[in-house]
Amino acid sequence: MKAENGFLPYDIFVFSGSNNGTFFAQEVKKQLGGNIYQIPLVTTKQNVYEGKRMLVIYPTYAYGIPRIVKHFLKHNTFNYEYRAIITSYGTRTGGSLLEAKKYCFDYYHSYQSIENFIPLFGNVKDLNAKYETELASINHLINELRDMKLRPIKGFHFLKPVSLIFYYGRPLVTKLIRNTKDCTKCGLCLKECPTKAIFFKQGKIKISSRYCELCNRCLNVCQFHGLKFLKHNKRAKTYLHR
Ligand SMILES: Cc1cc2nc3c(=O)[nH]c(=O)nc-3n(C[C@H](O)[C@H](O)[C@H](O)COP(=O)(O)O)c2cc1C
Ligand code: SF4
Ligand code: SF4
Repeated sequence: MKAENGFLPYDIFVFSGSNNGTFFAQEVKKQLGGNIYQIPLVTTKQNVYEGKRMLVIYPTYAYGIPRIVKHFLKHNTFNYEYRAIITSYGTRTGGSLLEAKKYCFDYYHSYQSIENFIPLFGNVKDLNAKYETELASINHLINELRDMKLRPIKGFHFLKPVSLIFYYGRPLVTKLIRNTKDCTKCGLCLKECPTKAIFFKQGKIKISSRYCELCNRCLNVCQFHGLKFLKHNKRAKTYLHR
């Protein structure tokens, strides 16, 4: 069935920690029509998804695909006539698209988002200019999706060892996110965590290393310095796409 604007709508599956991917998904929905599904909320195994056009959007994590997205792609079946995949990145995609080659998409592309979300990377400068550049890339990609362009991917993922270290080391690193005495127990981080990895235990915030993807969103949304990552006990001065 065609959307009001005459285009075939997309089923848009997104995982997004700092909202760059969510922003992209919303633009696709606005311009081409479709439904947005948050991957963490639909990621049960062995579902069969069917339709005309699908798009998967995810961030580059350690030059690879976030764990939750890998699982989503691996354990579900996607019967669509056209399947596209887009990754956003801060500085370098590495193999975050190449890793998806085995799932046989029709279109692979990436774009540079406004800023890297990791606190260690520092502040965002020249936001307006970056926003304009990002929007131009997004619109270009949406035009290609509108026309159902084919764009295969080739090459070798030479940064795969880094992705694997992150993939297997992630549960250990999540333990470095700690609750501080400044936590007011307001519960905002629980609500905002995209993978629902945060819970209260004996009056303290705990993070499930099984479900935490290290997206850093909790550190950014907390207004009270209630969480810290290593020595970063101030609110992380990074960008959260609004
Ligand atoms: C844990 C983590 C690892 C990341 N690794 C990379 C990377 O290897 N290369 C890169 O360019 N950006 C990296 N980034 C930045 C994100 O890919 C980038 O900010 C992306 O646009 C975030 O998308 P989102 O806002 O939809 O979550 C990383 C971010 C996080 C939180
Ligand atoms: S860590 Fe921050 S956001 Fe989470 S409950 Fe405590 S004060 Fe609220
Ligand atoms: S616990 Fe924090 S870092 Fe981990 S997935 Fe949730 S919001 Fe992201």
